[in-house]
Amino acid sequence: MTRALLIDRIGELTTNEPGIGAGIGGRIADAAVVVEGDRVAWVGPAGRAPAADERVDAAGRALLPGWVDSHTHLMFAGDRTAEFEARMAGEAYAAGGINVTVDATRAAPDAALAANLDRLVGEARRSGTTTIETKTGYGLTVADELRSARIAGRSADAVTFLGAHVVPAGTDPAAYLALVTGPMLEAVAPHVSAVDVFCEAGAFDAAASAEVLASARAHGLATRVHGNQLGHGPGVQLAVAHGALSVDHVGFLDDADVAALAGSWTAGARGTVATVLPACDLSTRMPLAPARRLLDAGAVLAIASNANPGTSYTSSMAFCVATAVLQMGLTVHEAVYAATRGGAIALGMHEDGWRDPRGTAHARVGVIAPGARADLHLLDAPAATHLAYRPGMPLTAAVWRAGERIR
Ligand code: NIG
Repeated sequence: MTRALLIDRIGELTTNEPGIGAGIGGRIADAAVVVEGDRVAWVGPAGRAPAADERVDAAGRALLPGWVDSHTHLMFAGDRTAEFEARMAGEAYAAGGINVTVDATRAAPDAALAANLDRLVGEARRSGTTTIETKTGYGLTVADELRSARIAGRSADAVTFLGAHVVPAGTDPAAYLALVTGPMLEAVAPHVSAVDVFCEAGAFDAAASAEVLASARAHGLATRVHGNQLGHGPGVQLAVAHGALSVDHVGFLDDADVAALAGSWTAGARGTVATVLPACDLSTRMPLAPARRLLDAGAVLAIASNANPGTSYTSSMAFCVATAVLQMGLTVHEAVYAATRGGAIALGMHEDGWRDPRGTAHARVGVIAPGARADLHLLDAPAATHLAYRPGMPLTAAVWRAGERIR
């Protein structure tokens, strides 16, 4: 028989269901949550909580949904400390460093790639991340992209094919595009749920990116775009026109880009999420993405870590949330929502029945509401506001993923 767990005396519960509680986070003070199996069974005021088999006393601390990190690149080997040092000494980021990681990744045995992935996913989970997407994109041959996708699928909740990351050094761009949209996609498609393209000067232009997105759709795969990262470009408009789930980075936007992102959600349409990557903006010394402007215009926002060895070597969603609040002008509750439910929407996991790479169907994530997957993050603080009020402090007290305590 399924045992019920009661977590009570929660000082502040963020449900992310505005109908359940106050504000964008649907917050309830002095609350309780009941978990049965891998699902949330009940939420409400502590005084009305039903009986359960086990009890955890939250002792007045804050409980929120586990982070949903919708953008990482964890299938890699090697290290780029020297490149980071040079950047902090004034050198500009150029995507050329990707080839350094490609060489290291190709040279690494499967076991080393898997061990590195598990190490990084473990770090993320201990920091409160209960859903994590990761991308291929440092293999860039059919064999290396295929093994990246297969290995990623063992531990990530979602795997995205990023064969269109850069054209590998010494390769003809037209021939590589034909490979990525043809045999490489064919090989990788059974192991991924989405296809991504780095639409940027020096990577893939608008026409090539459009081909990548069209080939993905022809295989029944969702799409995402790395867009407007290093300068203004066609990425955002392309993502919206192709119905991509998300466009990520979005650092350089004009009014038409902001309007397109906001407009993609009108009349009940499934739009394109604008995913901001604050740790990456800082680590590349790029302007911070205009998250406030996007929200004010009506866009749907996600915050993700972009954990990778080149532009953002951190999976700390707490750091990203604190940066979004302190430097991008979001309120704490807007930032927490974007890093939980926003990420779930960006991944299409905000609805029941999404399947992980192992084929298992799951309940929706990013909310604490009856029927949702029981992904819970207990803070060592009385309110989510402490994530920005006490930046950099180790505030994760406990984490449950699908009802199982993992920290
Ligand atoms: O999202 N923009 C492209 N890809 C990664 C960085 C890759 C790298 O420099 O290794 C990103 O920032």
